[in-house]
Amino acid sequence: MRVLLTGGLGYIGSHTAIALSAAGHHVLIVDDLSNSHREVIDRIEALSGCTMPLLVADVRDEVALLGFLHDHGEVDVAIHFAGLKAVAESVANPERYYDVNIGTTLALLRAMEAHGIADLVFSSSATVYGSSKSVPHTEASSVGTGIANPYGKTKHMIEEILRDACAANPDLRTTALRYFNPVGAHPSGMIGENPRGFPNNLMPIVAGVATGERDEVTVFGHDYSTPDGSGVRDYIHVQDLARGHVLAAEYKSKGFEAINLGSGVPSSVLDLIRAYQEVSGRNIPYSLASRRPGDVAVSYADVVKAERVLGWKAEHTLLEACRDDWAWQQATARKPLP
Ligand code: NAD
Ligand code: WQD
Repeated sequence: MRVLLTGGLGYIGSHTAIALSAAGHHVLIVDDLSNSHREVIDRIEALSGCTMPLLVADVRDEVALLGFLHDHGEVDVAIHFAGLKAVAESVANPERYYDVNIGTTLALLRAMEAHGIADLVFSSSATVYGSSKSVPHTEASSVGTGIANPYGKTKHMIEEILRDACAANPDLRTTALRYFNPVGAHPSGMIGENPRGFPNNLMPIVAGVATGERDEVTVFGHDYSTPDGSGVRDYIHVQDLARGHVLAAEYKSKGFEAINLGSGVPSSVLDLIRAYQEVSGRNIPYSLASRRPGDVAVSYADVVKAERVLGWKAEHTLLEACRDDWAWQQATARKPLP
């Protein structure tokens, strides 16, 4: 199949590009480099041994997107990774988040219609479960209530837009993959999470302490009703996610469908710090602090549907994700790009 990846030079998109290529699919990428680096294409091509056409443009530049699709022939499936994902930034600048995340989705839908592309895989998020306490979250758990920030709201709104679009157009098939907490890196150490600006997610922060760039991890909350009092999440290796996208791209959904991609294994903040300490051999000091506003105590996935529908389940452990992230941090992430 020929697969268009929007945001294909980003963290999850770059790993997915390699996995799709390894499965025999042809990959085309559009990315505006707003949170990635042009050199990532060289690494993806080197690791996959394949050339991938790249359009450096905003997905909302419909003239450029349509021209690219016209120039590169038929596309069977689009995977929509492009968007902004920094939770705190979305609180400070909500209009930008609604504009980019929803605008790119609408532009992509129009381009798909113009080019007869019937299948879409969308990067959704466990954030759509909001304050729902029904853990593990199944795809039937309530969504949209108590979502604490504009970023998360865009994911819920986009799911609703795609549900309506599928209802209106019986030819459109959409799979919304609800990722839990993506972590880890490609085992080569050549690609991983390399955002512009400062990270807010736990693993890049823990990695920064292991490399000596930060003094300590601030653990947000130590009084949750969890085994050790810190927040519990479902950390999913990015290589497992990438494989999930290959299967989702090959799957023909019935209209709109949502599918969780998580490990199904609950792990605490302190579990992750311990695991990273073990693989890195570095001391990772931390201090206990008050809860971060908007955080839920526990979030992890019910993974039955992914296995039933896609034949997918996570294969990598949190320890393996920490090991691969540590290799990436040492080999590449901290070095200036060529
Ligand atoms: P990322 O920022 O690394 O990748 C997104 C890519 O999209 C970047 O390369 C960026 O340059 C590009 N991009 C952004 N706006 C664009 C635009 N207007 N036009 C073209 N390209 C644009 O993020 P990621 O972690 O790889 O996440 C991919 C998707 O998965 C995002 O939609 C994100 O919201 C979603 N998601 C991520 C996580 C996570 O924790 N990483 C969890 C759940 C869902
Ligand atoms: C994980 C745990 C924190 C930093 C976010 C988005 C979500 C999704 C994934 C995109 C929590 C704790 C964190 C720190 C800490 N992204 N923590 N000290 O909040 O589960 O999810 O990323 O869709 O939408 O909200 O991930 O990595 O920020 O936090 O103690 O310095 O680590 O409180 O318990 P989160 P996270």
